Amino acid sequence: MHRHLLLTLAYLFATLTVSSQSSGYPELDRMVQVWRTAQQTTFGYPASQESELAGFYQWYAASGMDVINLNNAGDPMTDDPSTLSSQLFERQVIEFFAPLYDFNLDNVWGIVTHSGTDGNNHGLYFGVNYLRNKTGMEPVLYVSDEAHYSNMRLAHLQNLDIRLVASDSMGRMIPDSLEAMLNTSRPVLMVYAMGSTFKGAIDDQQALNAVLAAHPEIPGIYRHIDAALFGGYLPFTPYRALVSRDSMQYESIAISGHKFFGIDSPCGLFICTREVYENQTDYNVPYLNSNMRMISCSRDALQPLKFWWLIQSVGFEGWSTQAKNILAQRDYLKQQLDAIGWPAWVNEYSNTVFFRRPSPEIIRKYTLAQGYDERFGGELAHVVVMQHVSQEKIDMFIADLDNSRTAESTGRRHKR
Ligand SMILES: Cc1ncc(COP(=O)(O)O)c(C=O)c1O
Repeated sequence: MHRHLLLTLAYLFATLTVSSQSSGYPELDRMVQVWRTAQQTTFGYPASQESELAGFYQWYAASGMDVINLNNAGDPMTDDPSTLSSQLFERQVIEFFAPLYDFNLDNVWGIVTHSGTDGNNHGLYFGVNYLRNKTGMEPVLYVSDEAHYSNMRLAHLQNLDIRLVASDSMGRMIPDSLEAMLNTSRPVLMVYAMGSTFKGAIDDQQALNAVLAAHPEIPGIYRHIDAALFGGYLPFTPYRALVSRDSMQYESIAISGHKFFGIDSPCGLFICTREVYENQTDYNVPYLNSNMRMISCSRDALQPLKFWWLIQSVGFEGWSTQAKNILAQRDYLKQQLDAIGWPAWVNEYSNTVFFRRPSPEIIRKYTLAQGYDERFGGELAHVVVMQHVSQEKIDMFIADLDNSRTAESTGRRHKR
């Protein structure tokens, strides 16, 4: 109890001592304090709260960039990037990341997207165009019922014929269910979840690819990987084969920039092969001097610059250390939950630990995401162990869980 109080005081102190400059707008200043406090104990969502962009913002203001209106409308992968854009740097970002997923630099195309959803939107749209172009037929989309809802939303938006494939209790698409649902007379558009939203499951791409390979009559196959969170850290771990194009044979991948990479507002990466790019619908737009194959016209010029800045300042080594740490803290959290006898589960390679749902007070304090599954006793919650979920914070969380259980049983005794 004493240790718990000390931890809580340490966090309050850390929150209050961060230097703060008034905006001159009281409501905004008040919200900055609210955000700072909430940031200390947000555990349930996959965003690093350790943004490393202070130097970027100092440079941005000091260099006068704040009065230059850039726009990345157009193709960043051409040799002729438009001047009032950061496409030059956007291309370097794609060329830094693409080899980490085993794309060859002579066979790659990509953009910095507005979000993970935007990356999936490109994955589905490019997949449909590619398959239509190759086969003259409309594909069927297959995605697991535990995959992120953006895939279902986008299927609706793009009017796609979608089959939700059942997943097992840990959240992985079941190969036999895919087999049972497969329409082998139409092209297959697969979305693999890396990982699933609530349980952090990684679809077994090799087992699912084997199901597809057993049907050579399928007219065409396109595989998109929804790797919003896991695609951030896995390339920097010994498990990088899980997102390797060489090992897994996929056509495109989407990754979020504001999750593992801690960029302070939504963005992401979409990367595909050149063959996929060549099989898209052409829109030659003279006023942009570009063949516009991507979905949006205007695109953010600042996010590629932030990504580029982080490549220089954090880079492969920094991200490798961070990836190692989050998996170590994931182990620590699971061990501590086991130690207090709180039922908890975690998928291999995942930084998401799910467990029996605690009290509403704890859900609120730690902004925990909630789920439900009868197979695990019903009400559940999860923690996504991001860079800011340190051992000290885990200790505080575990102490809160343990105390809440004592309070619950005392309450029950008093009622009797
Ligand atoms: C697996 C997965 N895919 C897609 C998304 C959507 O990404 P974004 O919020 O960047 O649009 C998320 C977000 O949590 C996710 O976890």
